[in-house]
Amino acid sequence: MDSAVHNENGRLPMSTSAQIGVTGLAVMGRNLARNFARNGYAVAVHNRTASRTRALLEEFGDEGEFIGAETAADFVAALERPRRLVIMVKAGDPTDAVIEEFAPLLEDGDVIIDGGNAHFADTRRRERDLRERGIHFVGTGISGGEEGALHGPSIMPGGSAESYASLGPMLEKISAKAADGAPCVTHVGPDGAGHFVKMVHNGIEYADMQLIAEAYQLLRDVAGYSPAQIAEVFRTWNTGRLDSYLIEITAEVLSHVDAATGKPFVDVVADQAEQKGTGRWTVQLALELGVPVSGIAEAVFARSLSGHTALREASRGLAGPTAQPLSGAAADAFADQVEQALYASKIVSYTQGFHEIAAGSAEYDWNIDLGAVAAIWRGGCIIRAAFLDRIRAAYDARPDLPSLLADETFATEIAEAQHDWRAVLGAATSQGVPTPGFAAALAYYDSLRADRLPAALTQGQRDYFGAHTYRRTDREGSFHTLWSEDRSEVQV
Ligand code: 6PG
Repeated sequence: MDSAVHNENGRLPMSTSAQIGVTGLAVMGRNLARNFARNGYAVAVHNRTASRTRALLEEFGDEGEFIGAETAADFVAALERPRRLVIMVKAGDPTDAVIEEFAPLLEDGDVIIDGGNAHFADTRRRERDLRERGIHFVGTGISGGEEGALHGPSIMPGGSAESYASLGPMLEKISAKAADGAPCVTHVGPDGAGHFVKMVHNGIEYADMQLIAEAYQLLRDVAGYSPAQIAEVFRTWNTGRLDSYLIEITAEVLSHVDAATGKPFVDVVADQAEQKGTGRWTVQLALELGVPVSGIAEAVFARSLSGHTALREASRGLAGPTAQPLSGAAADAFADQVEQALYASKIVSYTQGFHEIAAGSAEYDWNIDLGAVAAIWRGGCIIRAAFLDRIRAAYDARPDLPSLLADETFATEIAEAQHDWRAVLGAATSQGVPTPGFAAALAYYDSLRADRLPAALTQGQRDYFGAHTYRRTDREGSFHTLWSEDRSEVQV
């Protein structure tokens, strides 16, 4: 590899030019810059505090061609045109501040890339504002954490097709590659489409994690397994259809023993889950779009509930059953049923997430290719899973698939799983083990497959107290019953 191109001040020699720049060198930005450099690109690097830039050059300067810049002007001057400048700072005001620092220094056709977890509405606003100033703005989801940023993340860029033409090949090079060698990046769609898809990715991530957590709790309380035994169960599951990064790391976390106490790590960690907000955004948007993402919502609420320590304290000791652990073959048989319940619930979570992407795409005219989204989630990202290749295949075979549940393969798998899925929920309910994710998934499934829903009664009530009207099954039009008079019906 080339050695670092910088002098002792970290300043660039004027003759060199970088193909891409990264500003914001906290761990994600630093690793992304290193990834570009390791893939043969000359990378300009900049940070508000110059010591971070110098640290990167000192520690990793020999990994490729870096050009350190201490000022915004030096940074911009180091970039070849059209300039490609990646911002890796905190979402929200810090992103706006950095854009305002650099935009005046840029020229027509230059591209600003925001690789943070921005809200897609902010991305739409920024894209519009910068477009008016002749600058392309690419809001891009980047998933895979620190390791992904360095070794190959899944990348979800939005923005103009023109900006993707200039940027796409570089992103393809640094991205993760799926098992078939395809790069885990695609031009998701215009303006905020990339950040929208990243948001839903995180919503699905929350749901996946919640379902895994519920499976763990059931194996612990109902099957009576120890964390180490459960780690083994997850390892086995990871060799089958549940094969995924989250299942793999679950086994790692569960088998970890706390050095200070000798206890299972999971028993010494405070049981209050935190969140930075992308799961909550997924649910907020789903509410606005009218998309039932009940599994993702339950996952967000479960984290929120876990943090209500005073409420939990006040509620401890309320009446209810205490789980009676099984043993031997009965415990093992139950564990197999939990695998079925987890898999079926997981299909429902992805069904809901893809529904939200389809709804967002229709609302904002993004024309998102759902098969392509599934394809770029097969590698690099937190929800990467063997299963995503089958979702890709389902949408590729039928791009207008109304729901993943309408795909024959998934429908058949759910049909086969449902006996165990229901049995697991029965056991959870009777033994008092909370399983909001499993339960929401099954309720969604049963609601969708129902011939008739009690929504008809809801409509009757709304008409009774508010004259909100209803439609009939046998005639067109809107109707109202004169409830407080003779209960005759009028068409309105
Ligand atoms: C990723 C992750 C990453 C982060 C999320 C979740 O795709 O690499 O999703 O973006 O871990 O922000 O964080 P919280 O659980 O704190 O919301």
